[in-house]
Amino acid sequence: MADKELAGKVALVTGASRGLGRAIALKLTAGGARVAVNYLANDDAASAVAQEIHWAGGEAMLLKTDIADSAAVRDMTREITDKWGAIDILVNNAGITRDGLLPRMSDEAWDRVINTHLRGAYLCTRFALRSMMERSWGRIINIASVAGLVGNAGQTNYSAAKGGLIAFTKSIAREVGSRNITANAIAPGFISTDMTEVLPQQQKEAILSRIPLGRFGTPADVAELAAFLASDRASYITAQVISIDGGVI
Ligand code: NAI
Repeated sequence: MADKELAGKVALVTGASRGLGRAIALKLTAGGARVAVNYLANDDAASAVAQEIHWAGGEAMLLKTDIADSAAVRDMTREITDKWGAIDILVNNAGITRDGLLPRMSDEAWDRVINTHLRGAYLCTRFALRSMMERSWGRIINIASVAGLVGNAGQTNYSAAKGGLIAFTKSIAREVGSRNITANAIAPGFISTDMTEVLPQQQKEAILSRIPLGRFGTPADVAELAAFLASDRASYITAQVISIDGGVI
């Protein structure tokens, strides 16, 4: 990333207490953006990310907010704009998995996954858009998944949410393009994080054998792409889904 090309920008990264969100928050900090670190539960992990941002010379704000809760998201976005005056970059990253074959899937597993990914992205985007439209500049970056493109057995809920997120991205890009706001989706393949750590070793080996580049991705790989999409270098890219999967699809 070019030095401090995001200076003066305010970013909100959802689910930034660990994994991809943490890496993206740190990368945007390196680019000079102030970063609002949203998370659901783990105060210690979120504080550690804020500390890392401060050590890197950046500014962080911690926001413990369930992104599926409309009133809470409205308050969260207000808190950011009250303190920092804007939200220029929104990274809809927060996510969960509740895997299982469809005949045995609980309504709770379906609803939680759809609500976190899809309702969460909808709410954060709706409330953050006001600020972007006022400033006639904005970047919406949605973290989807290859599962949203090609599907995945045992992940009907997750794949449906990610597929929905991709369609949401393309639609909002068409709605707000004339306001100089871009919206793109990133579709990661297998990235080594706490989310994927829990998978059985045998399943990991099977996945690895299908990756042409012969390794799992890292959060830093994804953060690099997110930072590019957030920058002015990507100003003519919108309504796209960019896979970052080592060549899997
Ligand atoms: P992770 O489990 O390490 O981190 C998820 C983050 O989301 C945590 O900070 C958690 O607090 C937050 N979160 C969960 N529910 C929330 C809610 N209701 N409100 C606010 N925050 C909430 O996950 P990881 O691996 O970093 O994944 C990040 C995103 O990337 C997710 O959307 C995931 O679906 C997606 N992804 C991950 C891949 C991987 O291989 N790790 C592959 C493709 C996509």
